[in-house]
Amino acid sequence: MRVLGIETSCDETSVAVLEEDGRILSNVVSSQMEMHARFGGVVPEIASRHHLENLPAVFEESLSRAQTPLEEVGLFAVTAGPGLIGALLVGLSAAKALAFCLGRPLVAVSHLEGHLYSPFLSADGAPARVIAHPFHGLVVSGGHAELVRVEEDRIVPIAHAGDDAPGEVFDKVARRAGLGYPGGPIVDRIARRANPKRHPFKVGKFNDGSLNFTFSGLKSQLVRELEARGIEGDRREEDVDAGLADLLAGFQRSIVEQLVDRLEAVRRREGMERLALSGGVAANSEIRETLARWGTEREIEVFLPDRALTGDNGAMIAFAGLRRFRREGPREYLSANARSRWPLGS
Ligand code: KG4
Ligand code: ZN
Repeated sequence: MRVLGIETSCDETSVAVLEEDGRILSNVVSSQMEMHARFGGVVPEIASRHHLENLPAVFEESLSRAQTPLEEVGLFAVTAGPGLIGALLVGLSAAKALAFCLGRPLVAVSHLEGHLYSPFLSADGAPARVIAHPFHGLVVSGGHAELVRVEEDRIVPIAHAGDDAPGEVFDKVARRAGLGYPGGPIVDRIARRANPKRHPFKVGKFNDGSLNFTFSGLKSQLVRELEARGIEGDRREEDVDAGLADLLAGFQRSIVEQLVDRLEAVRRREGMERLALSGGVAANSEIRETLARWGTEREIEVFLPDRALTGDNGAMIAFAGLRRFRREGPREYLSANARSRWPLGS
């Protein structure tokens, strides 16, 4: 059985075809990043309109690359949330129409569950890796930070972003520094040639005893620091001087340290054998290197997603849909609704 996955929750229109063993036959992603770049972030109405325009071509391209006639698709999976409602509705409506016309089952998938299992997929045509339970999952993206424990039959939430999401602060700080959008990859590159120790920041924490993430204080400190240094207007990445580069490196280091701080707390509290990192921010080189090292030192198996699968894509949605379908079987889908909020484990 082949699975077709559709993702339209934010600014990527994506359709993928997967084999039952998780092999990715095609994963076509059309990014609208450039459309939104001049606004410094995703504009919901523009996103929905572009999904509507792009989806038919992305869909055709995905089937064609997978050399899969539509009749050979045995299961449809689509992101139903969390995300921008108008954007989600484009994918969801298309998926319902396809499933209905072909008489095939459809699974409405959580975007975060898609990210969660993405480290087990391979971007180069190999079957999905075997998933042993329990494992801990850390999803870090432009809209979310969620730390969970994944058991055979349930997902247990441990911590979430109490204010800004990590990708969001990367984007906001980079925009304030005049560096463009999305900010994550830009800061990542700048930090590689800088010294994070010259400008250390404290690791953010709430006072309520929770392990929830907090990044908005860090963002404010950065903005104040940029103001104090008189940094204004746009600049090219190459023109960033050593002072600003060190500041950005210190900022990134503080995000990495907070992630490690929470993981360490969980490891001490309940033990940890395996960790799966995912989401757009999981492309960050320092996060990847630090967590890989952290895991090796503690004999924790750390699963990092292929860089090509860290951003939003249909393959992860098809895979999460396939897993749900195997566990729960066919469900009534015509009444499935788009949800702007949908925390993991709910
Ligand atoms: O998962 P994703 O594609 O979309 C959401 O579901 O939010 O994540 C996008 C986010 C953006 O905020 C982007 O700046 C961030 O991922 N990102 C990075 C890197 N690459 C993308 N953040 C830090 N370092 C990177 N290399
Ligand atoms: Zn995402």
